[in-house]
Amino acid sequence: MIGRHRHLIGLEDLSREEILEVLKLAVSMKEVLRRPLKKVPTLRGKAVVNLFFEASTRTRSSFETAAKILSADALNWTSAGSSVTKGETLVDTARNLEAMRPDVLVIRHAASGAPRLVAESVACSVVSAGDGAHEHPSQGLLDAFTLAEHFTRASGAGPEAPPDFGLFAGKTVVIVGDVSHSRVARSGLHCLPKLGARVRVCGPPTMIPAGIEKLGAEVHYSLQKAVEGADAVMMLRIQHERIGDPLIPNTREYSRLWGLNARKAADWLTPQCCILHPGPINRGVELSPDVADGPRSVILDQVQNGVAVRMAILYLLAGGGAADV
Ligand code: CP
Repeated sequence: MIGRHRHLIGLEDLSREEILEVLKLAVSMKEVLRRPLKKVPTLRGKAVVNLFFEASTRTRSSFETAAKILSADALNWTSAGSSVTKGETLVDTARNLEAMRPDVLVIRHAASGAPRLVAESVACSVVSAGDGAHEHPSQGLLDAFTLAEHFTRASGAGPEAPPDFGLFAGKTVVIVGDVSHSRVARSGLHCLPKLGARVRVCGPPTMIPAGIEKLGAEVHYSLQKAVEGADAVMMLRIQHERIGDPLIPNTREYSRLWGLNARKAADWLTPQCCILHPGPINRGVELSPDVADGPRSVILDQVQNGVAVRMAILYLLAGGGAADV
């Protein structure tokens, strides 16, 4: 359980304390991940099914890695080559895989609400690995973990100091790009203010959803103004797969106005501002390669922290036995 929750469908459902429960456990999980022998018996005998109806590199691999480090068995299922191609429904697919007695089903689907529908149809725990433009809760948690690590380093603590989750207070995080179609942005907006951070969103007006201020976000259309004094900037990919009619004139124009390159980073960002991106990056569109791979980038930290955070999620939901981590 994560607090009161048997499932992880979205960070909207989680309180500040429940978010901190996962993040604090992920600190111990990261220590396991960094051992030369990265294997603990905590979830021996448990099984995790990764049910991916959409493409993924980071999320699927890290849930699989997380399960294996904790000694759970991991089954990776993808819709291509499955009986979905013969017309089997989402719920039938989930119920048939659940009949094989997994403890956790991790599901990614193009339809917002798919993980909740599955959670209502099965007895095991369900984790959303991203549903449509709704939420990507494990990404929101790994982003928060990575930000806390960065804020801790920026505060002068040594490189090995554990992340201080009290450092969000007074910090400003800017989310830039296709906010309308981004489940990463939505999970960030449901998480970061609960931890004490201010969130600004920035992008073309066609990519900023109406009413986003109700989630506590400050809206900007100028990148230069949005990043002024910011502690972190999260760049988003344009979600072409979720966009019907074009929302921008062309990617060159988008990159000129809302992309980040080395010159803009040097002129506009404070020295301690870090840059995040959930991946995959469209290099040369939202981020130039020198920024994506430069000293401000914590993008690969995000990927590594994704394993630790997903270990914590699986541990809590699969009901690990003795805390042998
Ligand atoms: N960040 C993220 O969800 O990446 P993948 O699509 O590769 O899983």
